[in-house]
Amino acid sequence: MTGLRNSPHERGVDTPSLIPPVLHDHPVRAQGRRLVAVDDLDERRVTEVDTGEHGVLAVGLTPDGTPFAVSNLCRHQFAKLGRGRVTEDGCLQCPWHRADYDVHSGAMTNGPKGRIFGFKPYSSTFKAVGNVLKLRRYDVEVRDGAIWLT
Ligand code: FES
Repeated sequence: MTGLRNSPHERGVDTPSLIPPVLHDHPVRAQGRRLVAVDDLDERRVTEVDTGEHGVLAVGLTPDGTPFAVSNLCRHQFAKLGRGRVTEDGCLQCPWHRADYDVHSGAMTNGPKGRIFGFKPYSSTFKAVGNVLKLRRYDVEVRDGAIWLT
C-alpha cells in the first residue's frame, strides 16, 4: 500500500528505497491509444503507463477530473513522476523531494523540498531549471472510463 505524506520534510510518497525511485515500477501497458482505466488509479491519482509509442509516461487525473499525460522524469534527481502523486490543487508532485509540476504547462511550479534540498536558493534554482526544461505533454481525453491519447 502507498502511504501519502504531508510533512514538508518527508517524501511525498512512502517508498522503501534509500535512493530516488529512478526505475519504473511495473508500468501499466497501454492498449494502443488507451492508456489506463480511470478506476485503476489509486489515491495518488497518477501512474506509470508504457505507451510503446512515447515510452513510459506519467498519466493521471487532477481532482477536477482533467486527464494528463506527461514525461516521467523529474528535472531534479530523475525520480519517476508516475510514482508520485497529484496534489489537491492539481499539481503532479515528485515522489522524492516533492517538486511540483503544472500538468497543463509542464513547468515546475515549486522546487524540491526538505531540510537539504528545500534550501531556498537551491530550490529556486531548480524551479528555474524546471521552467526551462518543462515536462513534455501529450494530448489525452477521458472516454469510456479510460484515459486515451488523442
Ligand atoms: S528527485 Fe524530484 S524533487 Fe528531487
